[in-house]
Amino acid sequence: MAQLSGLAGSSNMTGDDQKKLDVIGNDIFIAAMKSSGRVKVIVSEEEDEIIPCPDSPHARYAVACDPIDGSSNLDAGVSVGTIFGIFKLAEGSKGTKEELLVPGTELVAAGFTMYGASTQLVITMKGGSVNGFTMDNALGEFILTHPDMKMPKKRAIYSVNEGNSLYWEEPVKEYVNSLKYPAEGSGGKPYSGRYIGSMVADAYRTLLYGGIFAYPADKKSPKGKLRILYECAPMAMVFENAGGQAVNSKMQRMLTVIPESIHDRSGIFLGSYDEVQKVIDVHAKHG
Ligand code: AHG
Ligand code: MN
Ligand code: MN
Ligand code: MN
Repeated sequence: MAQLSGLAGSSNMTGDDQKKLDVIGNDIFIAAMKSSGRVKVIVSEEEDEIIPCPDSPHARYAVACDPIDGSSNLDAGVSVGTIFGIFKLAEGSKGTKEELLVPGTELVAAGFTMYGASTQLVITMKGGSVNGFTMDNALGEFILTHPDMKMPKKRAIYSVNEGNSLYWEEPVKEYVNSLKYPAEGSGGKPYSGRYIGSMVADAYRTLLYGGIFAYPADKKSPKGKLRILYECAPMAMVFENAGGQAVNSKMQRMLTVIPESIHDRSGIFLGSYDEVQKVIDVHAKHG
């Protein structure tokens, strides 16, 4: 009705065709960050360069955001969301791009929203717990509905785009096959497959039910598809604080990975502690 579906006719730095709502969401998010007076500089998926906030010269925070995650699903009415990571800048910081090329361990807060059957907000602070909120439309407030979220240590659910199997490295193929075809006599049952294609929705389900989400780097995308600053690192912080694990395609702890540019990408395995450990163990066998 409001003509908000479909493409905006432009593309972003990582080559995504921008949907109208990508652009609208980006503008709304930037306006809200600027009007808070607390943000000195913003990184957005939809902006090639960093966005300085000159009206907040003494602000100490930098925000990295994915205004609309899962936007390829928008026209199909599937859940999408917003992902954000917050850094605290040093005293006298100039808010330069280089100051944002830091590991996720530097994040002071991170989280995401999911606009689905209900509107959810999941947020965590450095070294803190993970808390989930649900928007009460009558009040216009987020209500604490999921205090101190802790992930199941394991769960037989895997979430990966198997359409990329042709491009996967050997250890990834072996790992996924071990879930689908449990070894004879292991007594194991095949895992369930669940893939929504919006990271926020796949992540939220994995956070609540347990299991593993993966977007491996592969022969088609050697650096992976998901962006470190505003997808991989914030989600890794949430999952670690909820008792899970997150590693990249080199099996390095995701939160230690330093982006080479503000839109740098990484492979990622994100999920229940024991499920990610299985990925690490299979890769260790391949040396
Ligand atoms: P975005 O919509 O912010 O560009 O992110 C899309 C990402 C992520 O949401 C999802 O996990 C992944 O793209 C899905 O990629 P495929 O369609 O290649 O599976
Ligand atoms: Mn995109
Ligand atoms: Mn995204
Ligand atoms: Mn996006």
